Amino acid sequence: EKGGYEHFMLKEINEQPTAVKTTITPRITDSMPDFSAEGFDAAKLSSYNKIYIVACGTAMHAGMVGKYVIEKLARIPVIVDIASEFRYRDPLIDKEDLVILISQSGETADTKAALELAKLNGADTLAIVNVKGSSIARAADMVVYTHAGPEISVASTKAYMVQISVMYLLAFELAYGTGRISKEQCEKYTKELQNIPSVIKEAIGLEKDCQFIASKLLNADSLLYIGRGLDYASSMEGSLKLKEISYIHSESYAAGELKHGTISLITENMPVIAVVTQKDLEEKTISNIKEVKARGAMVILVCGEDVVVEDKVADYIIRLPKAEQMLMPMVAAVPLQLIAYYTAVLKGNDVDKPRNLAKSVTVE
Ligand code: M6R
Repeated sequence: EKGGYEHFMLKEINEQPTAVKTTITPRITDSMPDFSAEGFDAAKLSSYNKIYIVACGTAMHAGMVGKYVIEKLARIPVIVDIASEFRYRDPLIDKEDLVILISQSGETADTKAALELAKLNGADTLAIVNVKGSSIARAADMVVYTHAGPEISVASTKAYMVQISVMYLLAFELAYGTGRISKEQCEKYTKELQNIPSVIKEAIGLEKDCQFIASKLLNADSLLYIGRGLDYASSMEGSLKLKEISYIHSESYAAGELKHGTISLITENMPVIAVVTQKDLEEKTISNIKEVKARGAMVILVCGEDVVVEDKVADYIIRLPKAEQMLMPMVAAVPLQLIAYYTAVLKGNDVDKPRNLAKSVTVE
């Protein structure tokens, strides 16, 4: 059942190119996003005043990517919230708003409660769910099913990847609907997204490098992940994946926030994994990397293929295959998953069933 792989997690990482293809293909017509089968279109989507994206854990990180791209392309305000916070915060939602819920299982208690609250306040709800007929899918006004297939490993990998792919398609559709991007631009982005499965495949080819990096992390007490913008979202997800299955403490920080407190944690040889894929932020993050390096950190740089890295800035570099910059979270996710995976394997942990965790959190 593991298809020759040692763990479901590794199998599921390898299924990502297909999962993305299967998820996006039915929502693309003539190189344009097309959600007509789901019962909505660009005009409807772009009619909302603001959008909330509410989810837990990894699904929330997919929402962070969604916020960046929707705001950047469509210029509609997006608030990302953790479901357990949203539901008790008396959020400012009304019937002019769209609330997007993201959930692999469709059964997460807090996300379900957030959905009910949104409905109670008259907002339209859109669920992005992997499990057919699940509670969240049934309760939402609109549903976009991701087609990742069953995800068995507790640590989410392919479900995250397909959630992001839907976020991109929604962002393109929204941006086109608001007139912020032209049809040509929308087609161009959509085609770039269609090309991503092959780039993910290439990124999976970095497996051996990731295994090597994992061997350097084994004895660490604590790690930092840093990035800016979309790379911050990626680093959040990378950090969660690592702590979830390797049991090594790690934190993700927006790189520019380090000097407001966290940089005091850096000691000799503390691993810092930096994600750098966004051209406009490259220089800024590299300068943060130099700051941690100067304090003794062991820097692992996960970066775009053309990032210029001076000598002695990083101890180890993972160069990602090339893709449209905005889509790089889908590429960066792969080595971060593989680093977490191999660290857990090398530690002899129960990779697919990490301690204290359940695949689906149906109680709050
Ligand atoms: O089924 P859901 O997507 O609603 O689950 C949300 C989280 O519990 C889940 O993503 C969790 O964070 C993963 N185990 C992380 O790998």
